[in-house]
Amino acid sequence: MKSIALMSEKGGTGKTTSLLNLASGMARAGRKVLVVDADPQANATMVLTGGQGLGEGPTLAEVMAGTARADDALIVTPWTGVELLPASPNLAEVNLSLANELGRERRLRKAMEPLKGDYDIALVDTGPARSLLNVNVLNWVGQVIVPISPGLFSLAGLGQLQTAIEEVRMYLDNSELALRGLVLTMCERTAVSTDVERQLRGLFGDLVFTTTIPRSVRVEEAHSRFQSVFDHSPQSSAAKAYSALVEEILPYVERKTNRSGKRSGGTSKTHDAA
Ligand SMILES: Nc1ncnc2c1ncn2[C@@H]1O[C@H](COP(=O)(O)OP(=O)(O)OP(=O)(O)O)[C@@H](O)[C@H]1O
Ligand SMILES: [Mg+2]
Repeated sequence: MKSIALMSEKGGTGKTTSLLNLASGMARAGRKVLVVDADPQANATMVLTGGQGLGEGPTLAEVMAGTARADDALIVTPWTGVELLPASPNLAEVNLSLANELGRERRLRKAMEPLKGDYDIALVDTGPARSLLNVNVLNWVGQVIVPISPGLFSLAGLGQLQTAIEEVRMYLDNSELALRGLVLTMCERTAVSTDVERQLRGLFGDLVFTTTIPRSVRVEEAHSRFQSVFDHSPQSSAAKAYSALVEEILPYVERKTNRSGKRSGGTSKTHDAA
């Protein structure tokens, strides 16, 4: 199982939106997808449970606390091919309650180990804060994708995230962790949007996905109907863009892991922010 976190220290950049549409797109491409909702806001959980909310079952909060197993918390969603390890608001407390516990940065990595043969790809949604929860995510996933919505301060927090990735690689268990890329979301035909794109491609080169996601009202409509943009509006520019982004990411999902456990042909290099 490969794993990708959608992460940015800045809020509202399109992490959850991208996660949901990538999950749907990859499932449509025949991959078995697990969504792990590691954001206490639980936005992805809400959409993937059709706004029903959760019953009594355990969530990622209990898994992190060590009182439930990951496979007991899994939910089959109405989205074909997509399963969910849900979040609940209790997840916010994990940061405090684990603060002095042994192995606090390793809880998620350990909890997910038994599921690694069950899915092609795990996509992890995260909250915008710097937190122990996000360190747990970084210490587990193979790659990080950072959605960036062009605007003032759109690169805020990117340098800190790169530092966090470097530190996890150096001091924790995930030496293969890679910043896979930056994806521009909510792009418009404005001077600011074009400037940010040019600046980003100048600074980060091929670390920036070729595909950019346009701002489209169809995306928000889809959320409010608990659908992906592919179901809601398959001909929309946003659906086409997310489909192209899925194509850019699938080669990683397909990449074989060699016998030493190291990914072949991959690069775990990260570029420095200027
Ligand atoms: N391509 C798009 N076109 C139009 N609206 C969009 C698009 N992408 C995201 N949005 C809207 O922008 C808002 C923020 O998006 P989203 O919730 O995905 O960001 P986020 O990074 O997950 O936020 P948070 O940091 O709070 O978790 C939402 O209302 C979402 O519907
Ligand atoms: Mg979100």
